[in-house]
Amino acid sequence: MEESCKNVYITTPIYYVNDVAHIGHAYTTIIADMLARYSRLTGANTYFLTGTDEHGQKIAQSAEARGKTPKEYADEVSGKFKSLWDDFDISYDKFIRTTDDEHKIGVQKAFETMYNKGDIYKGDYEGYYCVSCETFFTEKQLVDEQFCPDCGKPTNIVKEESFFFKLSAYEDKLIKWYEENEDCILPRAKKNEIVNFVKGGLRDLSISRTSFDWGVKLPESLNEPKHVMYVWLDALMNYITALGYGSDEKNMNHWPASTHLVGKDILRFHAIYWPAFLMSLDLPLPKHIAAHGWWTRDGEKMSKSKGNVVDPKKVADAYGLDAFRYFMLREVPFGQDGDFSQKALMDRINSDLGNDLGNLLNRISGMSGKYFDFKVTSKDVEKFHRKELDEVEEILENIEDYLYKMQLNRYLEDIWKVLTIANKAIGDYEPWAKMKEGKEDEAMALVALITNIMARVSLLLDSVMPEKIGKIAASLGITIDNATYISLIKNKELIADTTITKVEQLFPRIEEVLLEQAKPAVVEKSVAEEKSNKKEETKEVEDDNLITIDKFFETSLKIGTIVEAVEVPKSKKLLKLQVDLGEGRNRQILAGIKEFYSAEELVGTQACVVANLKPAKLMGMLSEGMLMAAKDENGLSLIRPEAPKTIGTKIS
Ligand code: MSP
Repeated sequence: MEESCKNVYITTPIYYVNDVAHIGHAYTTIIADMLARYSRLTGANTYFLTGTDEHGQKIAQSAEARGKTPKEYADEVSGKFKSLWDDFDISYDKFIRTTDDEHKIGVQKAFETMYNKGDIYKGDYEGYYCVSCETFFTEKQLVDEQFCPDCGKPTNIVKEESFFFKLSAYEDKLIKWYEENEDCILPRAKKNEIVNFVKGGLRDLSISRTSFDWGVKLPESLNEPKHVMYVWLDALMNYITALGYGSDEKNMNHWPASTHLVGKDILRFHAIYWPAFLMSLDLPLPKHIAAHGWWTRDGEKMSKSKGNVVDPKKVADAYGLDAFRYFMLREVPFGQDGDFSQKALMDRINSDLGNDLGNLLNRISGMSGKYFDFKVTSKDVEKFHRKELDEVEEILENIEDYLYKMQLNRYLEDIWKVLTIANKAIGDYEPWAKMKEGKEDEAMALVALITNIMARVSLLLDSVMPEKIGKIAASLGITIDNATYISLIKNKELIADTTITKVEQLFPRIEEVLLEQAKPAVVEKSVAEEKSNKKEETKEVEDDNLITIDKFFETSLKIGTIVEAVEVPKSKKLLKLQVDLGEGRNRQILAGIKEFYSAEELVGTQACVVANLKPAKLMGMLSEGMLMAAKDENGLSLIRPEAPKTIGTKIS
């Protein structure tokens, strides 16, 4: 976050279109939205960007698995992200898609500029590639010689002509940048990891691919039609192409970014590649790259296969969008991993929101209504409550710092300290007693103190819970805008005489969880929906747990040729096979078929392989897939294609 009267440019990562949005995506987007809304309130010239990342091998494969063209598939999933953010009232200024023409033009311009500068050269790439992470690895970086160190999936050997970016030439410049800009990477612990990584030495980066074509073509001037750009080069450029870089540059005045919000898994791309690309383009570097942690659910990593992915829309529909936003921002210190549980969310709603915030508003309307016909004047607040005002002002004085440092939970903790001052003051001064004693001016001063505190808190919480704060502000008779912000927060003025309006309970108490607890179902249902859908549900269960086509396609089935087979010593059942799935390397598969097939008869034959099984160890040896077979009382038969098929052909 930056001070007012400045340009503030906030970005989220652009989301891959091979997945539906989950709370991890919602988390980054909500943080960015909070910062953007706050910055607008302070009067800064704010631009907020989000969007979707639509190219690359992973998307092409996901589209193929669904029998769609990559563009059709990208249109569908990108549309879902956009409508979710619209449902969530995310205040983005632009939703970029990497399939937008302006983006492609901008990326090509950037490539050409870096090429003309001598930072890009042509060579041959030989190494390992993780399609799931869209990342290149050296042999040394792999786990057990073949698995991706980030996601654990098997990598492919890639050997192809490629253009390279001279990343190694930027090592010293990057280190200088990290040294001279203390907060360029947040939090500090993450920065240290990056600095150490860069100090360990950087290799040039492969930035084009020739083995598939779902990507941005290289600039025509290079006349290299076989190549498409590496998806991360394409994706990172979105932060400038969204402002018109390379096409209509009218919004480039927003550059450099104030804060790129990213998850910890993609920090390296943002904190190393991206600044190096920008240096090559002679563009200023972002002010902060802030990496948040990951969300788990009830202590477990979320994944589609476990069926425990939290659907942010279901949570917001059940518990309220603003409560969900508050929970996400408050529950976990930025940078650390967090756990989503309905219990934790309920506790926040009942305690922080219901008791501390909601009740305080009720008390304001209760007291002002009972004693003063809802009319409140601030004229004696200074006289009777300078002490409380000072305490509040001292806390609020430094609160923005927490936003600069991305300590969002501490920002909220301090606001709650202010609410505590207000709640405590009511108990300490007992306005009901003052009324009995005939000290109406003192009772009024107390009610006005609380109203003023609530007004300040509302300004500071508007970016966190815009809908509920809108209601609180209406009840207090104030407007949440820059003028009020300047008056109450910056100039520490008191509100003008006002009339309080009664509002409904803002955060009614929640006694029971509202969503089904995590169990193997991809999408959760609210309890209400659950009841009304009971009939259909029963039918589904009777129908032998039917699955959708998407669920089926989560299993990758492929034709492979068995190129080698040997018996596993000391095992009655196992054969060790090397199976070619057309991936540039063979897969080792341990199959329990020794009693039915000899090793020799298998070599050269084809089989149907489950290709996306998590690798497992059997008798200390790695198995990276499974052959499909059927076994009955007459023995076991492998399932094979009727006629030979190209290695790697998908079974669908
Ligand atoms: N397309 C790239 C980003 C390119 S930015 C130039 C990408 N996309 S993603 O859809 O896979 O991830 C987007 C963001 O979601 C990342 O910041 C990632 O950290 C975040 N999350 C994915 N799962 C998450 C959790 N379980 N918890 C929190 N955030 C997580 O990477």
